[in-house]
Amino acid sequence: MNAPLRIAGSALRHDSALRHCTGEARFLDDMPEPSGTLHAALITAPVAHGLLVALDPAPALAMPGVVAVLSAADIPGQNDIAPIGRGEVLFVEREIQHYGQAVGLVVAETRDTALRAAAAVRLEVEELPPVLSLDEAREWLVGPFTMRQGDADAALARAALTAQGGFEVGGQEHFYLEGQIALAIPGEGGEMLIHSSTQHPTEGQHIVARVLGLDYTQVQVQCRRMGGAFGGKESNASWVAAAAALAARATGRPVKLRLPRKTDMAATGKRHPFRYRWRAGFTPEGRITALIAELIADGGHSLDMSGGVVMRAITHALNCYAVADLRVTCGAKRTHHVSNTAFRGFGGPQGALLMEDVLAHVARATGRDIETVRALNFAGGPNPSQTPYGQELEGELIRRVHAEALADSGWARRRAEIAAFNATHPTLRRGLGCFVAAFGISFGIPHLNQAGALVHVYTDGSVRLAHGGTEMGQGLFIKVAQVVAEVFQIPIEKIGLAATHTGEVPNTSPTAASTGSDLNGWAAFQAAQAIRERMAGVAASLFGCRPEEVRFEDGLVLGPSGNQRLTFGELAKTCWMRRVSLSATGFYATPDLEWDMQAVRGRPFFYFSYGAAVAEVVIDTLTGEHRVLSAHLVQDCGRSLNPAIDRGQIEGAFIQGMGWLTTEELWWDSRGRLRTLGPSTYKIPGSRDVPPVFAARILEATPNRANTIFRSKAVGEPPLLLAAAVWNALKDAAGVSRLDAPVSPERLLDACQRAHAKR
Ligand code: MTE
Ligand code: HPA
Ligand code: MOS
Repeated sequence: MNAPLRIAGSALRHDSALRHCTGEARFLDDMPEPSGTLHAALITAPVAHGLLVALDPAPALAMPGVVAVLSAADIPGQNDIAPIGRGEVLFVEREIQHYGQAVGLVVAETRDTALRAAAAVRLEVEELPPVLSLDEAREWLVGPFTMRQGDADAALARAALTAQGGFEVGGQEHFYLEGQIALAIPGEGGEMLIHSSTQHPTEGQHIVARVLGLDYTQVQVQCRRMGGAFGGKESNASWVAAAAALAARATGRPVKLRLPRKTDMAATGKRHPFRYRWRAGFTPEGRITALIAELIADGGHSLDMSGGVVMRAITHALNCYAVADLRVTCGAKRTHHVSNTAFRGFGGPQGALLMEDVLAHVARATGRDIETVRALNFAGGPNPSQTPYGQELEGELIRRVHAEALADSGWARRRAEIAAFNATHPTLRRGLGCFVAAFGISFGIPHLNQAGALVHVYTDGSVRLAHGGTEMGQGLFIKVAQVVAEVFQIPIEKIGLAATHTGEVPNTSPTAASTGSDLNGWAAFQAAQAIRERMAGVAASLFGCRPEEVRFEDGLVLGPSGNQRLTFGELAKTCWMRRVSLSATGFYATPDLEWDMQAVRGRPFFYFSYGAAVAEVVIDTLTGEHRVLSAHLVQDCGRSLNPAIDRGQIEGAFIQGMGWLTTEELWWDSRGRLRTLGPSTYKIPGSRDVPPVFAARILEATPNRANTIFRSKAVGEPPLLLAAAVWNALKDAAGVSRLDAPVSPERLLDACQRAHAKR
């Protein structure tokens, strides 16, 4: 696995890069519609909490072109779309649990008609008071769980210095460019094929089967690519698929359901907002010795994947730091918000903010430089390297990414220049912030860490590659294709990429937790390797040598003596003539994982991905506005499978994280109606928000110690956390330790005024 690589490891462009640019890449809505396709539109709840007294379809049915109005009573199977456990409805039966919740569906000849008719359906609703904040929330959806080490109370009591704090961070809308969409095509004998923009085709299959009362084998789900997902199509895509399938079943015709942006934003889950409270004890040097903390997530109205998010938040609450005595509690509460869901980082980013707040307070209280305090508390080195739940961190990598990010940014020089700038500018202030992350790789639910692949070699030497992973723009398909091309030593162009299909590779996990290339890369490797061994056997018999002596190189297959050579295609053809199978499945399960959620102990992660960032900001103390002037990022990708793709992931994740912590604010009115339903009111970063100096690079020469495919590391989510450097820089500029996020101009202005009052 440490041998030199030719195809894996090279900076190939995304397989669809040119097609994305020319518009040739087909997203679901670009596919030719089967004749007779109908279009559906959701009927959604107008209140955050209430009783659905009556649904009158008459005004909709009276409109020309309307074919059906469907609601809970029309569901032939179970009205249940829960991804884990049971008890989350597709359509409201009696109690409305959040604004924008699906109540039913209108099916019509055109999408415009369906949308107009859905708005015309009369809902009689008895509004009830909603629970909209964590202050009012009483009921736990999951947890609270407690991570313990040593005796936190005693350690706090004997600490030389103590501090306490509390802060909040908001949720985040995924804002994938392609919204939620599914096309359901009814087949013979009740069968259903669903084209779905989904990270989790298998869950789509299961939920459609549950809602329609079918066997899994009667439902197949396919996805060639998504126009972005970011966790938002892990569970939410399944109920959209189920709604489309229900309409197809009821009408006997293909039905497409594409949510308008406003409906999408109101009806689908978001990142979990979190609230934090903590007390810490530390030495005069700033070494933190005791920590008691409570993290509470707003789970929204139902469980969805909040259990996993809480698990990741609690396992990342200490991030890359070591504290001897601690007690950290985390759980998710029920509110009348849309059920919050997976979003890049999956609770990890929220967990990792805790220690940043603690470090800022400790630095301030001890009067020491924050980077010195940070380094003093890193896990490893003189400090323990084990996480409180029992897993080893790599202290030398933590220190390396930190040192390299500081060096790249010219930290010491910037500090001096910023001090000079701030001394001479009355209203503008600059600030500098750093952040270091250790992100655990693997699904928090051990059994999800498995994957399958199916590889066919055709008799001309071209290859078809199918695996259980989905493509959402992150470059998974090209990375896995590179693995297969590496095994066969054939040009990447010879690998045909199959859409993800539940009929081709079954019982898959979602493409999530950044594990796509780790899991599917190994599964595809196993499949390709099995075929290669068979082909080598045939070649050996032709060449009169041993199979180990057969070499695959540059599209050729070579024997030990100079004149023994075949093209890869010629050998494939020969295998076929000799009736040797050229197809294989591959399977991979991540080894040595175990997790006890009640005890918060075990080995939930195969390894950690490390990263560090430095950001510089300038703020306007009169308006609360800010700009990020520079960002220097160093991310550990192990031995990268594709440095071009990985750099894109690092840059994109950082900017997305920056949006979460700065400009992206979800705003509900006093009745719990989400009012930020589009780009005019919900501000994601634009191209002009990218820092003018933006240097993202991959940490060099660090093959993964864990036995991952070609010693690579996952990259999809970890760099999102690095955006916390911007949050830290904003605190530095404003001169405060507490700063709630997102750091809107209002919040920043408030912080500047607090700091000014103290000065
Ligand atoms: N990159 C793009 N372009 N689009 C996406 O939707 N999703 C992110 C990340 N990078 C996403 C993305 C999330 S949430 C995850 S978990 C990973 O990609 C999933 O893919 P991987 O496991 O193949 O990295
Ligand atoms: N990340 C994303 N999705 C998940 C996870 C996770 O850790 N666990 C279960 N679903
Ligand atoms: Mo990513 S939040 O694990 O889909």
